[in-house]
Amino acid sequence: MAPAFADIPKPKIPKGKGERCVEDTNVMRKNHMEFLLHQRDETVHDGIRTKKHSLKECLSCHAVHDENNMPVGIDDKRHFCNSCHAYAAVSIDCFECHQSKPDVLKVSGSSP
Ligand code: HEC
Ligand code: HEC
Ligand code: HEC
Repeated sequence: MAPAFADIPKPKIPKGKGERCVEDTNVMRKNHMEFLLHQRDETVHDGIRTKKHSLKECLSCHAVHDENNMPVGIDDKRHFCNSCHAYAAVSIDCFECHQSKPDVLKVSGSSP
């Protein structure tokens, strides 16, 4: 770590479930947004559905549980997707439509 960064708090990223991610962890760190956006385009425009890069799968392995063992939502700063985004000042609109918790992950509104 370069000395200039020594004082900057690093994000604490909750550990994912299982042995590995859908791609190498380093690849995911850098390129997860591309997988997600690509996946969305395929599903929405071409009706292609694969599980590999599905948002639902991400959240099922990356669910963070609170003290009552309930999965936290995107409004909680402990949520996996917030762990870096808050730190990196990234803001995403995905969870205006998509559920941010596993199991109940559905698109709200009138979509199927
Ligand atoms: C305006 C509402 C809306 C917003 C905002 C939105 N989506 Fe979606 N998304 C949808 C709908 C509708 C579908 C298609 C529903 C389906 O096929 O289950 C979809 C499907 C998807 C899929 C494929 C299905 C799945 O579960 O994997 C992915 C991946 C996805 N969106 C990711 C994203 C990401 C990442 C963002 C934020 C950058 C985002 N979406 C923002 C409405 C939205
Ligand atoms: C089968 C379970 C599983 C699925 C599905 C999964 N992940 Fe992962 N993910 C992991 C594991 C295990 C790691 C590496 C261990 C860890 O968390 O440090 C990881 C690492 C990551 C990292 C890097 C975290 C870090 O410490 O820097 C990101 C970002 C990530 N995943 C995003 C996603 C996204 C986005 C999806 C959906 C497209 C997804 N993951 C799907 C299990 C999964
Ligand atoms: C390892 C840290 C980390 C984790 C965990 C993480 N992200 Fe990100 N994400 C980033 C960074 C950093 C950027 C900004 C990258 C850039 O601007 O090049 C980003 C950008 C994005 C973008 C593109 C935003 C834009 O406006 O371009 C989307 C979509 C996204 N992330 C979705 C997710 C979702 C969904 C999750 C949870 C499943 C997640 N990310 C978890 C670090 C992370």
